[in-house]
Amino acid sequence: MSSQPHFYVTTPIYYVNDRPHIGHAYTTIACDVLARFKRLDGFDVHFLTGTDEHGQKVQKSAAAAGVDTRALTDRVSRNFRDLADAMGCAIDDFIRTTEDRHYAACRALWQRMMARGHLYAGSYAGWYSVRDEAFYDESELTTDAAGARVAPSGAEVAWVEEPSYFFRLSAFQERLLEHYERHPDFVLPEGRMNEVASFVRGGLKDLSVSRTSFDWGIPVPDDPDHVMYVWLDALTNYITALGYPDEEAALYRQFWPADLHMVGKDILRFHAVYWPAFLMAAELPLPRRVFAHGWLLNRGQKMSKSLGNVVSPYDLKDRYGLDQTRYYLLREVPFGSDGYIGHDSLVQRINSDLANDLGNLAQRVLSMVKRNCQASVPAPGAFDPADTGLMAAAGPALLATVREALDRQAFHRALEAIWSVIGDANRYVDEQAPWALRKTDPDRMATVLYALCETLRRLGILLQPVMPDAMDRLLGLLSVPAATRRFADLGDEGRLESGTALPPPVGIFPRYVEADADDPPAAGA
Ligand code: MSP
Repeated sequence: MSSQPHFYVTTPIYYVNDRPHIGHAYTTIACDVLARFKRLDGFDVHFLTGTDEHGQKVQKSAAAAGVDTRALTDRVSRNFRDLADAMGCAIDDFIRTTEDRHYAACRALWQRMMARGHLYAGSYAGWYSVRDEAFYDESELTTDAAGARVAPSGAEVAWVEEPSYFFRLSAFQERLLEHYERHPDFVLPEGRMNEVASFVRGGLKDLSVSRTSFDWGIPVPDDPDHVMYVWLDALTNYITALGYPDEEAALYRQFWPADLHMVGKDILRFHAVYWPAFLMAAELPLPRRVFAHGWLLNRGQKMSKSLGNVVSPYDLKDRYGLDQTRYYLLREVPFGSDGYIGHDSLVQRINSDLANDLGNLAQRVLSMVKRNCQASVPAPGAFDPADTGLMAAAGPALLATVREALDRQAFHRALEAIWSVIGDANRYVDEQAPWALRKTDPDRMATVLYALCETLRRLGILLQPVMPDAMDRLLGLLSVPAATRRFADLGDEGRLESGTALPPPVGIFPRYVEADADDPPAAGA
């Protein structure tokens, strides 16, 4: 096993009843940024995503579409896999719950819980929502505008009575509360930890973990009339992918427990209550953190197929650019909160933060270097405090700030810190006015341009996780070799070498210009 520090990050596995939309891309991109950050920071990383293919919802969708369930799952799963690629997400594995390896893991986990006395046979009579794939207590239901009983999420519910196995969730209440107490960052953001703890404090009932009224699922060992409840099946994916039930498998030994399960707030309870209880029951280690992000809203509501307000990630990419979209999603909405996305704020971010603050800075500096320094990295004279101050601000100190923010999944804070240094760099250009030094003090001009190139190198390295393609171009314009773009190269030892030839400068972030007023904005108004 390698002695490198390691980092295992997972997205939820996506239901294959839906077309991938920007909400799905949001989760996967956020994880990709963390995975890339950790890799550059010297970690051995495992980044997992995949699809959740069993359950009544998927079976019903296939029936409604008149297609074979397996054919539907193959097609939609492929769409999610393609989405990860299209969004520039460098995943290490893609899991499908219909794979053999997953059946083996689910059976083993089931048997382990059974052997320890945490599962028992009984029958379930109560409310079930197929859309949420969740059981609801009478007291949790509300009524919709038409007077029908609905789940707290607004989803339709139906009364279900069927033989079922139960998991002794009630027996884990105290242990869960103790765990939350001892690991206050087990769930972030903080407010969500409180919600979870108060839900558990309110009392836990045993959980139905098998279904008998349909068959699209993993058969229960020794009782094949039952299929496992889709959430038990789905949550197990996080260990399947590491080779469980082989606890000696290299990936399992290296990467379990997971460092982070990234989830949307709507599925926090499954990850922060049920999943740790299953693991406790099986005597397996618990994940270190569950982060619940908010919803991206469009026209005031969570995007969903049924509401018809879905924003396509492909439209955003085609229209605004991939790096621009990635930056916008993580910068615009404080991670953890709900937030609106839309054309106007996206264009504002592109033109102001990217084209103007960063793109223009690079363009000005690189064209001055081309014109005045023989198109190569300038040779600096003695540095002033202003020069060293700027370079230092963009170096290991900024890395430390960004690292601290990302360790709590605060992408917006990380980006704010980087943009504050970009602001410093722009002020420095204006104050030093290198264009005016060309005749009067060419040495000083070279020093200032050197400090700026070096600052751009550092910013380019730090921004790679969020905007891999654009930063690849920026670092290419500075002739930074691919092997020296890690965070370990951020400091003075990695500094640009004077005299290195630079390619002709080209813009890295074009301004967004409204094409046609009649064209409806891709991200809604
Ligand atoms: N299959 C389950 C997860 C099982 S994990 C063991 C599931 N799938 S899902 O496809 O419905 O949702 C996956 C994720 O996408 C959830 O984290 C959900 O919060 C997220 N999003 C779906 N719509 C979203 C928005 N509009 N905005 C942000 N994220 C949203 O739940």
